[in-house]
Amino acid sequence: MSSSIVVLVTGGSRGIGRAVCLELARAPNVSVAFTFNRSQDEANDVLQQLTQFSGADNNRKHSAHRCDVGDDAQCRTLVAAVVAEHGRLDALVNNAGIAEEHDLGNNEVSLEHFMVTMRKIMDVNFFGASSLTFQAVRQFQLQSSSTSSTLNSASTTATSASSSFSTAAGRIVNITSRAAYRGEHTAPGYASSKAALSIFGQSLARRLGKDNIAIFSVAPGWVETEMAKDAVYGPGGAEVLAQHPLGRIAQPEEVANQVAYLVLQAPLAMTGTTVL
Ligand SMILES: NC(=O)c1ccc[n+]([C@@H]2O[C@H](COP(=O)([O-])OP(=O)(O)OC[C@H]3O[C@@H](n4cnc5c(N)ncnc54)[C@H](OP(=O)(O)O)[C@@H]3O)[C@@H](O)[C@H]2O)c1
Repeated sequence: MSSSIVVLVTGGSRGIGRAVCLELARAPNVSVAFTFNRSQDEANDVLQQLTQFSGADNNRKHSAHRCDVGDDAQCRTLVAAVVAEHGRLDALVNNAGIAEEHDLGNNEVSLEHFMVTMRKIMDVNFFGASSLTFQAVRQFQLQSSSTSSTLNSASTTATSASSSFSTAAGRIVNITSRAAYRGEHTAPGYASSKAALSIFGQSLARRLGKDNIAIFSVAPGWVETEMAKDAVYGPGGAEVLAQHPLGRIAQPEEVANQVAYLVLQAPLAMTGTTVL
């Protein structure tokens, strides 16, 4: 059984999720389990880098798990697989996501295409995260009720990573989006999925605070990843850059830094909040 803090990150093969995995692994006493779906080679590369960070520290172990988070059956076995490998789970980062356009204002977009896209996005961005949240919360509750000494010993070991972690039974960070608050005119499904995830997290934060389970959201604007490249380097790129006060878009590492803070250090009193 791991004596480190075990964090599950979905979509760790590329982009923001990859940066989150690497940032977490820089902290002492953190083991990272991450998922990938299609990017096997990239996932192997991330796993290799994580392992290099840990060096000879036998308390830490990292693992990669293939899981399509849009597939309910695959989601149902993921948390159990991580716990089987690491012996526990202390935090979940719901990062995996997709963005697709299905522009209602375009007469060539059919109802069928509109709804198929809507459901696909909700399956990945919202229902997958919902299922994993349910499973993670059950695992946190199990650990804190039946083996509180186990969590305490992990937390004690992890003191150098985070003194505030010792009071948490578990933490969840949802990667939502600025789109949740302003909408996306040609991608309403994406914006809706992020708004749903945001209020889902706030709802559970209110319910689970008494169990010392904290839930946070990070809602970035444009971040320089594969997902953003068409918008940033396409015809409207200059306008996208101008939307940010700095005149540039964020780097994945800048978002990862916020996520690592919420996973490892943020006071539990911050539960329910969104970092923009
Ligand atoms: N980039 C932005 O401007 C921006 C802004 C705000 C919020 N976000 C959010 O940040 C998160 C990460 O986005 P990103 O920019 O890093 O995107 P990205 O570079 O396209 O990476 C997406 C990640 O999600 C995984 N993923 C996609 N579909 C999946 C599925 N069905 N099952 C499991 N994993 C799946 C991918 O895994 P595989 O490659 O292995 O399939 C990949 O690791 C998303 O939730 C996104 O909505 C991004």
